[in-house]
Amino acid sequence: VDVKQVHRTGYHFQPPRNWINDLIGPMHYNGIYHLFYQYNPKGAVWGNIVWAHSVSKDLINWQRLENAIYPSKPFDKYGCWSGSATILPGNKPIILYTGIVDPNNTQVQNYAIPANISDPYLRKWVKPDNNPLIAPDKSINKTAFRDPTTAWLGQDGRWRLSIGGRRNNRGIAYLYRSKDFVRWVKAQHPLHSTAGTGNWECPDFFPVSVYGKNGLDTSAVGSNVKHVLKVSLDVTRYEYYTLGTYSSKIDRYIPDEGMIDGWNGLRYDYGNFYASKSFFDPSKNRRILWGWANESDSTADDVKKGWAGIQLIPRTILLDPKGKQLLQWPIEEVENLRGKKVELSNKKLVKGDKVEIKGITAAQADVDVTFSFDSLDRAEPFDPSWDRYDAQKLCSQKGSTVVGGLGPFGLLTLASKNLEEYTPVFFRVFKAQDKHIVLMCSDASRSTLKDGTGAYRPSFAGFVDVDLTQKKLSLRSLIDHSVVESFGAGGKTCISSRVYPSLAIYDNAHLYAFNNGTQTIKIDSLSAWSMNNPRNMNQ
Ligand code: FRU
Repeated sequence: VDVKQVHRTGYHFQPPRNWINDLIGPMHYNGIYHLFYQYNPKGAVWGNIVWAHSVSKDLINWQRLENAIYPSKPFDKYGCWSGSATILPGNKPIILYTGIVDPNNTQVQNYAIPANISDPYLRKWVKPDNNPLIAPDKSINKTAFRDPTTAWLGQDGRWRLSIGGRRNNRGIAYLYRSKDFVRWVKAQHPLHSTAGTGNWECPDFFPVSVYGKNGLDTSAVGSNVKHVLKVSLDVTRYEYYTLGTYSSKIDRYIPDEGMIDGWNGLRYDYGNFYASKSFFDPSKNRRILWGWANESDSTADDVKKGWAGIQLIPRTILLDPKGKQLLQWPIEEVENLRGKKVELSNKKLVKGDKVEIKGITAAQADVDVTFSFDSLDRAEPFDPSWDRYDAQKLCSQKGSTVVGGLGPFGLLTLASKNLEEYTPVFFRVFKAQDKHIVLMCSDASRSTLKDGTGAYRPSFAGFVDVDLTQKKLSLRSLIDHSVVESFGAGGKTCISSRVYPSLAIYDNAHLYAFNNGTQTIKIDSLSAWSMNNPRNMNQ
């Protein structure tokens, strides 16, 4: 076994070596998907940042190309940071990105266009001399002014874009407007801002359809449209979103009543997922959300491995029918990687039961399971003194082995034979005064026997706002050597964990379903597949 490769993923995107971070500028153009990402060509730690570039016809099989954008001009000499792609009328793609212009980290917004629009892969990008397009004015903190969004076209014929930043501790999504995409003017008011939330990185602003299952183009407006504003908070390293209304009259975004900005708000993912972007895919009329997962290992281990960071599986993103949150689900194309399948149904799990899901490659798998139960009566009381926003703390206190009433039940992923190592993904149902509260955990605390110096092994968790009248809970997990990406209740709550087992590797990894609650649980149906490797992933 090549120690360097033990934790490399099989079907998650990663280049052969070196550091990667933000997934940027995703787009579908002339039948090709483009993936760009922040990349250090020189090592496995952050630095020397360029835009690396890969292309695909199906978002699964990737071909690596030369770096698309790298420091070469005064307006990006010290770094080519994150940004977005927009496809302009006439089918013309353009990239907006943040350039670092001096050693003090001064940030400006630049554009780049394909050198040869008839090259189907758009290999080469040029940065015209009228860059930068946008420099910070005096009111702007110039070291926190970055990550331009995909632009949207207003009904007045002017383009808009947003740029993330902060003023003191107020997080800001700045708004700029332009008639010609060249001359950009800052609006009087930001698109949105919130005191006390710190710097807003990588804002993403897009419409979602209130009815229907289709994604919307970024410029779509109308009465059946809600808007989403997502920001990446560098204070907590999580991504938060609100749903709201975009008033084109005042050109402002107003979160819906009850939505919370900042760290008590809704998250895309309650685990390791950051600096994501969404894009509209006209070939399938869907909006795809896509994000980066950093390593949770020590930097020394990253350097030893020679690589750091993966891109998670793209997710289709829709508004939940109740209109209070989004739903995320792995893109259907990932199912093309499914190989050998095993199934299980009508299997009872009494307290303490654990059944092994045998016959698949448990280190590289896709599992989809629906659990059911006859009664909610045994749900443990939810102590009113517990923090309703701190699911992670609750999960760290009530782990998968702490016996409960209705739950904990779920999956033990990347488990060694005798459970020296495992990453449980599970539910636990509580009863509060007027309703049930569902906790979902993806707990890395027992994921490895490896020495933990500098490593991060959190008990990631989120609450699931799900209706339990059917007495069912479903869970899907994408398992891939050092990552477990889980989707609770059809994508209402998502949690991604990075883990580094030392025993539960390759054929020594096992998968179990378990129940440690006094309420008997039934596996209604379970399907698990070995996942194949895509073509070209390691090139
Ligand atoms: C987010 C981020 C962005 C920045 C980029 C630099 O992870 O800090 O704000 O543009 O990474 O690589």
